[in-house]
Amino acid sequence: MEPANRQGVAQAIRGALLTPDPFAKVMAARALARDWRAGKLVSAFDVTMPDRPARPDRPELLRPAQMPRRRKGGSMQTRIALWHALAHIEFVAIDLALDMAGRFGGEMGADFVADFLAVAADEAMHFAILDRKLRVMGSHYGALPAHDGLWEAAEETRHDVAARLAVVPMVLEARGLDVTPATLERVRASGDERGARILTRILDDEIRHVAIGTRHFIDACERRGKVPQDFWKTLVKTHFRGTLKAPFNDSARLSAGLSRDFYEAIAC
Ligand SMILES: [Fe+2]
Ligand SMILES: [Fe+2]
Repeated sequence: MEPANRQGVAQAIRGALLTPDPFAKVMAARALARDWRAGKLVSAFDVTMPDRPARPDRPELLRPAQMPRRRKGGSMQTRIALWHALAHIEFVAIDLALDMAGRFGGEMGADFVADFLAVAADEAMHFAILDRKLRVMGSHYGALPAHDGLWEAAEETRHDVAARLAVVPMVLEARGLDVTPATLERVRASGDERGARILTRILDDEIRHVAIGTRHFIDACERRGKVPQDFWKTLVKTHFRGTLKAPFNDSARLSAGLSRDFYEAIAC
């Protein structure tokens, strides 16, 4: 018989989403992945996910148009702005992965939950590494304003796991694969070897995240009798407001299972 005090996984995920403190959220995401793997959580999806996860008072969130322009120079201020922007993306990525597991885990099954809780734990590590990097530079997460709007994609796709997978891992995280190599080169050229190592590690993990998203998207298509490439295009056109911009990191995308026949026809 199961002990009565084992917590339901969706309940635990909801708790992590509603944790505002960044470090408490990091610890909660890592504990969730560990506890799910160890069979310490009941597979119960009887609670709903919050519309918006909890976040700390700082950073102040600004609309994209209000964000100060990021320059590419090598001053300490510019470098801090880069690492702060990356830390914010990773912070939101923790919640995106948690919401994926908690909202759609019931219909998608145990492997899906394990995969996205592992992604949440990776994002938590990425965030922690970037915050530590900021602290070494005399700053910290929350010291600068950050981009509001990263949660928009989650809101827009909260009704459908296929739409969520099409937009979050397969458009937004895949975009990370396209832009990270240039950032990495710039960081390396500035002599910041430690920074370059951090970005290399993140890039490797993100290839895996895109692969997980693509695999579960293809599964979802098979269950619905859809052709993945065609269905993906329809979903992206309907639910993603931005544009898919070249140049693409085709080799990283391909190693994540995202071949050109997905994105070629709608790229500009
Ligand atoms: Fe990440
Ligand atoms: Fe990721």
